[in-house]
Amino acid sequence: MQTPHAFLRNVPIFSGFNDDHIENLSKLVKLQTFKGEEIIFNQEDKGDALFIIQTGRIKVSLFSEAGKEIILSILKEGDFFGEMALIDGEPRSANVTAIDPTELLILERIDFMNYLKQSPDLTLMLLIEMSRRLRIADDKIGSLALLDVYGRIARYLIKLAKAEGKITKEGIVIVNRPTHQEMAGLVGTSRETVSRTLTDLQKRGVISVTKDEIILKEDSIEVMEDKYLIYK
Ligand code: CMP
Repeated sequence: MQTPHAFLRNVPIFSGFNDDHIENLSKLVKLQTFKGEEIIFNQEDKGDALFIIQTGRIKVSLFSEAGKEIILSILKEGDFFGEMALIDGEPRSANVTAIDPTELLILERIDFMNYLKQSPDLTLMLLIEMSRRLRIADDKIGSLALLDVYGRIARYLIKLAKAEGKITKEGIVIVNRPTHQEMAGLVGTSRETVSRTLTDLQKRGVISVTKDEIILKEDSIEVMEDKYLIYK
């Protein structure tokens, strides 16, 4: 296993820290492990720490009264969460749950605030990442308000293919694809609708789906953009 120092050295928000700062930080963080599907904290909880993901994945989500889940984001190794409640003093803005077995490094509020006050580099990196997250959130609001479920699923697949897809002779391959349940939470629909839409897109020859992969055919992005997206 990596030492906290070696791991923190490669965490983007701490990229402006020198070795002494990283050493100091690695002494302040505490490691905590969570099982897959374990709740890390709930919306409205009091926030007293920042979390950095050392291994595993977590989801940030909201639930309706009826228990329907919308996933705001899935975060992975090297990402951080829990900064909002520390910065504005409000309760946690969303629920956070481990997807896989997950190791988190936890930094207490007081230590995080001290670093923030001392380090313009950390503040800038934080602002850059928070702006990136706001852009993604704006995009999600746009999709929910302007696209039907076909459009939202098509848009999600296109984004995933562009961000993580591998180009092969069969098409763009999305490996380690999200489950239908995860996709449903991410695009704001039900698991059944995701399954039906993927089957339909498959019948139309736009994609092919296996247990672990989704493959977008050569001209699928153009076809989906023309057919399902009213904005790009
Ligand atoms: P906090 O409000 O303390 O607790 C929930 C955390 O989820 C929040 O801080 C952020 O770190 C994270 N979070 C909230 N909304 C989003 C979002 N739209 N995208 C990514 N992360 C988010």
